[in-house]
This record gives sequence, structure tokens and C-alpha cells, in this order.
Amino acid sequence: MRLLYLIFLLPACSSFIVPNPAPTSRALVDHINSVQTSWLAVHNDISDEEMRFKVMDVQFIEPQEDDPVGGEIVPEPLPDTFDSRDQWPNCSSIKMIRNQATCGSCWAFGAAEIISDRICIQSNGSQQPVISVEDILSCCGSSCGYGCKGGYSLEALKFWNSKGAVTGGDYGGSGCQPYSFAPCKKGTTCVEGTTPSCKTTCQKSYQNAVYQKDKHFGTSAYKLVSKSVVAIQTEIYHNGPVEASFKVYKDFYQYESGVYHYVSGDLVGGHAVKIIGWGTEGGEDYWLIANSWGTSFGEKGFFKMRRGTNECQIEGNVVAGVAKLSDHGEKFDDDDGSASPYNFVLCTLMTLLYYLY
Ligand SMILES: *[C@@H]1O[C@H](CO)[C@@H](O)[C@H](O)[C@H]1NC(C)=O
Ligand SMILES: *[C@@H]1O[C@H](CO)[C@@H](O)[C@H](O)[C@H]1NC(C)=O
Repeated sequence: MRLLYLIFLLPACSSFIVPNPAPTSRALVDHINSVQTSWLAVHNDISDEEMRFKVMDVQFIEPQEDDPVGGEIVPEPLPDTFDSRDQWPNCSSIKMIRNQATCGSCWAFGAAEIISDRICIQSNGSQQPVISVEDILSCCGSSCGYGCKGGYSLEALKFWNSKGAVTGGDYGGSGCQPYSFAPCKKGTTCVEGTTPSCKTTCQKSYQNAVYQKDKHFGTSAYKLVSKSVVAIQTEIYHNGPVEASFKVYKDFYQYESGVYHYVSGDLVGGHAVKIIGWGTEGGEDYWLIANSWGTSFGEKGFFKMRRGTNECQIEGNVVAGVAKLSDHGEKFDDDDGSASPYNFVLCTLMTLLYYLY
């Protein structure tokens, strides 16, 4: 009996039992800061296991052969600096930083984020749904990949084209299907998330919404010409943020500020993010990027990455799509995807109960 119990307990407590090789991280931080000044590293206490939860299998960052190539290619002078947040100030989703917690759902985050931004941009700010990561993550199935273990960013956009995506904000938030993984608290044991099952209903508190009626669709999904800086810039400049993928090495978890480039550390996996603009800092060209690791990562959730050299393959598989605008009777007050005070109280209570029993 005892043995049986242990078997079940072991996976859940593995991060207590397996010692956290943190000392290497401090040495890594010192090394990064001593060999270059483009970006600053600070010590971030994170276990190897949690590092892996935050990324996906590296295979998913590769573009697929038969994917359609599209996007705006208009030869024209482009500004030296561009920030989608300034270009479309009324689109609040562009400024949002989400949190994927311990599920490798970055591919669905990047997709839901650019879809939300693009609906707002195309509608001149009159429609601002926060698109659900949960719906894409749980319902796209094997055509996208392996859920929390990773998926293809372009397949997520194709799912939006064919099946549509409902609304849904952060964990405990509003919309039809908010995210189901709570952010992992510092200093607690984080257990790897398993892909949620596909549901075709909306949460109860989302009134007057039927799952099918809440679906927002796209009319196209395409990849940009691989490794073309101009293609990426032109697409963002005209149509808004794009989803990009790159290789994540251990040093990236220690990023604090500046223009990131790979310095040192093992490859951990692949990651998908949202590029919202570009610029130059300290003589170095960069992409301005929104991560989905919460606002405590990097520069309030954002980071900059070296531009023009396909750093960590960031320019190799960039995707985007066009929204099909239709009237969903968008409401601005309670459809912004953020957690309501009611949800906050409920969530706190549930957490308390969890620890009590
Ligand atoms: C932004 O929203 C405000 C208030 O709704 C409106 O007056 C303004 O024209 C909008 N600006 C743009 C650029 O759409
Ligand atoms: C948004 O504004 C542009 C330029 O004023 C206009 O051409 C377009 O029809 C507008 N789109 C919507 C959906 O209102």
C-alpha cells in the first residue's frame, strides 16, 4: 500500500526530490554580464524542469514545407523604429502580457494574441475581443500538435480560419473560455500542465454567449518569406503584430533588459512569441517582442532580440493572418479578458481550500 502511494506521490513531488541545480545559474549570469553589454542578465531562480514547462519541443519552430507564403511585400521606406502599441493606441490587446504558466502552449498564445490585435486593428478599434488561448490549445487537436507539449503556430491560425476561436482572457478572467492554468507562484512546486480537453460551452458567468456564436474567424493564414527582415517589418507595419518562433537556451531565462542574443547555455526547447515592432538600441537592431511568461519576465513581460541575423531562428518561421470581421455585439466593459474582483475572491478562496484539505 505504502509503495503504491509513493508511486503516485513521486511525479507530483519530483521537483522537491530532484535537487535544483541553481548554482550553475548564478555562474551563468556572471558569465553573461562579463562577456557582453547588449543585454543584462539577473539571477532568476528557476529549475531545469520549470524551464522545460515554459517551452515546447523544438521541432515545432520549423516551418512546414506546404505552408502558404503570404503577407504584404510593398517596397517602401520603413521607419527606423516602430511600435504597434503607439501605432494603434486604442487596441489594448497589443499592450497585454499573458501568462502560459506551466503548459508549453506558447504557440496558442502567440496565435490568440495576434488574432485579438488584428481584429482590433482591422475594425479600427471598434471590436476588441480577447481571443481564447484555451479554445485553440484544447480544441485544435493533433492537427496543431501536442497541446501543452507544443504545436505549430500556423496550424493554430488555420484552426481559427476553419473552426473559429471564442473569447477568453487570463486564468480566472472573463470571456467564453478563459485560460485554465493558474500562474505558478514563486517558491512553490510547479507541476507540468496537461492539455485540457476540448469543451464546446462557455463559462457560466459569460452571459448571453453560446460557444458557437462566440466564434471569431479568420480568412487567411500564411507564413512570411523565411528570414526576410523586410517582409516581417512590412507585415507588422501594415497589418499589426505577427507570431514568431525561436530556439530557447538557458541564458534566456535570466534576461532582464536590453537586446538579447544567445551567449551561453544548453538548448531547452522551442518557443513562440509575438513581435510588435522594431528599433535600434546602443547601435544594435532589435525586434520588440511580447512574451507570454507574465509581466515579471524581462521588461514588464516584453523583450528585445537582435534583428537581422536570424538570431535563434527568430526570423525563420513568422506567421500571420487576416480576420473576418463580423458583428459579435462586442462589449467593452466586461469583455476585456481581465479577472474581475468576483473571480479574484473566488480564486483566493479555492486556493485556501486547496491548502486546507
Ligand atoms: C480612440 O478612441 C477614442 C475614444 O473612443 C476616439 O475618440 C479616437 O478617435 C480613437 N482613436 C483612433 C486612432 O482610432
Ligand atoms: C477603418 O478605417 C479605414 C480608413 O479610414 C477604412 O477604409 C475602413 O473601411 C475602416 N474599417 C472599418 C471596419 O470600419
